[in-house]
Amino acid sequence: MAIEDIHDFIKELEKKGELKRVKTEVDSELEIAEIMRRQMYSNGPAILFENVKGFEMPILANAFGSMKRLEIGLEMTDFTEIGQRIVDMTKMDIPSGIFNKIKKLPELSKMTESFPKLESSGPVTEITSNTASFADLPVLKSWPEDAGRFITLGLVATNHPETGVRNLGVYRMQIVDDTHALMHWQKHKRGAHHSDISKIKGEKIPTAIIIGGDPATVFSSIAPVPEGLDKYLFAGITRKKGIKMVKCKTIDLEVPANAEIVLEGYVDPSDIRDEGPFGDHTGYYTPVEPYPTFTLTGIMRRKDPIYVTTVVGKPILEDAYIGKVIERSFLPLIRMFHPEVVDFSMPAAGWFQGFAIISIKKRYPGQAKKVMMGLWGMGQLSLTKMFVVVDDDINVHDMNDVIWAITTRADAARDTTIINNTPTDTLDPASPLVNLGSKMGIDATQKTREEGYEREIQKQVKVDQETKNLVDSKWSSYGLE
Ligand SMILES: Cc1cc2nc3c(=O)[nH]c(=O)nc-3n(C[C@H](O)[C@H](O)[C@H](O)COP(=O)(O)O)c2cc1C
Repeated sequence: MAIEDIHDFIKELEKKGELKRVKTEVDSELEIAEIMRRQMYSNGPAILFENVKGFEMPILANAFGSMKRLEIGLEMTDFTEIGQRIVDMTKMDIPSGIFNKIKKLPELSKMTESFPKLESSGPVTEITSNTASFADLPVLKSWPEDAGRFITLGLVATNHPETGVRNLGVYRMQIVDDTHALMHWQKHKRGAHHSDISKIKGEKIPTAIIIGGDPATVFSSIAPVPEGLDKYLFAGITRKKGIKMVKCKTIDLEVPANAEIVLEGYVDPSDIRDEGPFGDHTGYYTPVEPYPTFTLTGIMRRKDPIYVTTVVGKPILEDAYIGKVIERSFLPLIRMFHPEVVDFSMPAAGWFQGFAIISIKKRYPGQAKKVMMGLWGMGQLSLTKMFVVVDDDINVHDMNDVIWAITTRADAARDTTIINNTPTDTLDPASPLVNLGSKMGIDATQKTREEGYEREIQKQVKVDQETKNLVDSKWSSYGLE
């Protein structure tokens, strides 16, 4: 079944035993968040809270909190397919000659199927109004010392003010009053870039907050898609079917027709206020920092909308699984620029921007450093604090294997690279300044003579084939199981 929206997703999750309904009355202030954290830390199912104190609207939480649920939502089991589709598109030559063009038509039309399509109406236009209030939404307060209620899984839509390329990013929003909220788009993100351009032009930036949509659109909002690529096209490529769009009523933006709710408005880059504290992905409260203000000008919503949310905190929570899908789906794209890369892992405990391991098929001296430097120059990977590069015989997903490589193939003085004054993730609680700190790279590949390794390269212990065959053939006789 094609999953078009959150209602379809809920049906599928329920059918596959991946969703529970909570009918007991629950409070959106702290109680729901604590229930969710307990569920997430114990690999529990998605939850639909049907009886939220003071609100008609149900809340869906932890919908993306397992690889199985992401497989259901994105309708695939091998997430590398997403990046591979993009790589394949870049390889698609447009042939000369009429006959060759005709032969290529099916491929071209498959590509256009992924393009967003503008419709005149959709489920989200069932109710529209230019008077709206954040108070009508069951927005959660997650942690006791949070500055207030935060929208945590809103897909924030803006267009690049010059190129018009559409973006979606999940940026949390702190509710200030009925019509104002603070937009936590961090400096390195596309939304913040759009806002900076608008600020220079002295303009406000039209912004829509989308709640719900199909799972591929939610995924696309979180994925670090390069600036030039429309996020709705990326979502369409992910689900092999274009996203249906409708026009907003009070601003000049297009949004998914199958969303649950769309909050329309604008961000004024000059109206800066204190945002936070907020219990964050790192497991710490991110302190107060200045962020711009969003003003609500209208709402579009279904008659029966579902409020979709999540809770963040010390890993491993729901966001970790989305991060794993990003890691898998971007591997083919990393390989396109760095063909020596064999595999790549961002362990969830390192909240994704903290630590990554890359395995390479090394061909020449210094290649591990070339890969590190390349990745530190690539999109949001530039925010990764530590890279460990290993040879292709190491399984990057097995920390024992990785630690063995670091401790047997790296020398601390020779193989550690430290670069100071580099961009760091805004959330990094350890960096000396917000957004500026250092990087560490560990080259844990086997050093060669060309790399100045003068000692004898020690041979790895491995069993000989004869002994292996002998033990294999007699294994059942040992009574060892
Ligand atoms: C639950 C959740 C909350 C997030 N909150 C923020 C946030 O408040 N600010 C931010 O800059 N990025 C946040 N992110 C990460 C961005 O969504 C992610 O970096 C995305 O790629 C940004 O989009 P961009 O491509 O427009 O830069 C969050 C991610 C998740 C999964």
